[in-house]
Amino acid sequence: MMKAIQERRSVRRFTNEMIDDKTIETLLRAAMQAPSAANQQPWEFLVVKDPRMKELLSKVSPYAGSIANAPVAIVMLANKERLQFAENMEQDMGAATENLLLQAADMELGAVWLGVAPVEARMNHIKELFDLPDHFVPYAVVPVGVPDGVGNRFIDRFDATRIHFETVD
Ligand SMILES: Cc1cc2nc3c(=O)[nH]c(=O)nc-3n(C[C@H](O)[C@H](O)[C@H](O)COP(=O)(O)O)c2cc1C
Repeated sequence: MMKAIQERRSVRRFTNEMIDDKTIETLLRAAMQAPSAANQQPWEFLVVKDPRMKELLSKVSPYAGSIANAPVAIVMLANKERLQFAENMEQDMGAATENLLLQAADMELGAVWLGVAPVEARMNHIKELFDLPDHFVPYAVVPVGVPDGVGNRFIDRFDATRIHFETVD
């Protein structure tokens, strides 16, 4: 199995080491390589480094405190104007988010997927915070940084009882 798939873990504590723009570009290149319905590529990315904005962004949900101590937070946005098959938006964005997480793990960085869509209150928090035009749909936030303490590591989740051949009986 690919090492990054095995070892990627949600990392919620980061050192204060900055992530350079070249590294951020590598992460976003990985996200943009994701499959999407009819190749619609609905994604756009808002890169947030400003400490005050990260602090406010960390209030998006009760489970997003990890944003505040990360050097950078990437807000995953879907652009409604790019949607040909709107019903596939969330799958497309999910694939892009996972690609980003795997690229981070491959570079020994820590990251975590923080859920935003489809919870209206969370989506509205981000729309208002960044004064987003209506066609941008906030999907998730991914804080990224150098892990502080426990980072990526393999945890075996294989469960043979989940596998069914030909029938689930
Ligand atoms: C759709 C989605 C939403 C998530 N939302 C949060 C969140 O709001 N806060 C958080 O700390 N982790 C969040 N996570 C991370 C999960 O808690 C984590 O993936 C899970 O516990 C498994 O741990 P692992 O990522 O280390 O394998 C989310 C993950 C997914 C896929």
